[in-house]
Amino acid sequence: MKAKILTNKGDLFSSIDNRIYGSFIEHMGRAVYGGIYEPNNHMSDSYGFREDVKELVKALQVPIIRYPGGNFLSGYNWEDGIGPVEERPTRLDLAWQTIETNEVGLHEFLNWSNQVQSEVMMGVNLGTRGIDAARNLVEYCNFSNGTYYSDLRRAHGKKTPFGIKTWCLGNEMDGPWQIGAKTAEEYGRLACEAAKVMKLVDESIELVVCGSSISTMPTFGSWEQTVLEHTYEHVDYLSLHMYYGNSDNEIENYLAKSLDMDRFIKGVVAICDSIQAKKRSTKQINLSFDEWNIWYHTLESDNKIKKWQKARPLLEDVYNFEDALVIGCLLITLLKNSNRVKIACLAQLVNVIAPIVTEDGGDCWKQTTYYPFQQVSAYGRGHVLVSKTESQTYHTKEFKGVPYLENVLVDNCERKELIIFAVNRSVDEAIDLALDLDGYTLTDVKEFSSLYGFDLKQTNTGKQGDVRPRDGGAVDLFEEKAFAKLQPLSWNMIRIGYN
Ligand code: AHR
Repeated sequence: MKAKILTNKGDLFSSIDNRIYGSFIEHMGRAVYGGIYEPNNHMSDSYGFREDVKELVKALQVPIIRYPGGNFLSGYNWEDGIGPVEERPTRLDLAWQTIETNEVGLHEFLNWSNQVQSEVMMGVNLGTRGIDAARNLVEYCNFSNGTYYSDLRRAHGKKTPFGIKTWCLGNEMDGPWQIGAKTAEEYGRLACEAAKVMKLVDESIELVVCGSSISTMPTFGSWEQTVLEHTYEHVDYLSLHMYYGNSDNEIENYLAKSLDMDRFIKGVVAICDSIQAKKRSTKQINLSFDEWNIWYHTLESDNKIKKWQKARPLLEDVYNFEDALVIGCLLITLLKNSNRVKIACLAQLVNVIAPIVTEDGGDCWKQTTYYPFQQVSAYGRGHVLVSKTESQTYHTKEFKGVPYLENVLVDNCERKELIIFAVNRSVDEAIDLALDLDGYTLTDVKEFSSLYGFDLKQTNTGKQGDVRPRDGGAVDLFEEKAFAKLQPLSWNMIRIGYN
């Protein structure tokens, strides 16, 4: 089948905030213990952090990592993770029914994130705790010296402040599963007061207030409204969380799930803007999609994992080829909404529903989903272009008018490069793609990389995993036009230089 993408040079839709390529490390499963931290592994540095994992994380170029949870956050005492390791308490983590030793805490994690060239997006516990613990944590991390908590940080070896810019006001506080779950009224009031004191300690920080845990929560919509009514002038971002899956094993419907993400984002933007109008505010609230991914492979099997052990191997979804295609569609959707989505976190980063997997005492490797994320993070920098797509469409049980061609165009003006990210959703037909790039003097094709031709259920289960991108074939340039063939069921990245 044929499809066309049309754009004009200089017609910029939005600049991309690089934090859209963020990720997430929670104290749960084998994310921290047995993931990034494994002192007995021969690959680990003198602090116990795995060098091989650091390399895979660095290659993803993740600018920001959310920490320390997740559901874990709502029962966590941040003070348990500071000071001499041998004096730290071992606790029950009620959220994941795990033993938490606190060997890794604030300093260790911030040091690690520095090494992988990421900032930390720090969460404050608004489940079992409140404004006092929140303000103390900001003082500990961001105040220079001469006060109780800043001097405590210095006594623990960090003379200069950590300078954490982005903070989450709790986690999924609407969820009945959440420790200390709240009504929208209760949470809105608490988040407002916590936000005030946190910004009194450091006025330069930015705050993310909790939206709904998933778009299907019964309180979705009213939760966002009430919470923003209380917090609008004190916060900067509203969070969205969403996980997708293919439990029905229907590929065409699964590939269309990104339309749900698009609808969710646009709905939340509408709610934010309605509160802005109601408050006659000049301030715009943007979005932090700080948990998104595929999560369904382990939903049942995880129930059988023994409770109350350290590093229970939870949520270790093994991703396949079709999951990678869906991740590609979701990444494209985040970019297409980059005018309002300023932060997004692939949840999570290592072992727990993650692109990177480690073996206890052994190797680490890349899941299928690693590749589209890595390519978009590495090359999807600059501006999203306004574009028009002409593509045939199909219907599924959940979605009408699904375009076979999903795509977004990015202009990296610094590198003088146009990048096309595209998924062909057709199970059996290639797409003859024509790109009308008006105003661009195209010079050369830098890369056409494609992930295609695998069994939908094929996984990467070791270092030699086969599901990885390969050469996509020819891209023909003719004046302001480019032509390429996108294979059926394929993820594609085309990079074209211009003058
Ligand atoms: O990412 C796994 C869990 O999913 C997080 O702890 C929680 O916030 C969400 O429900």
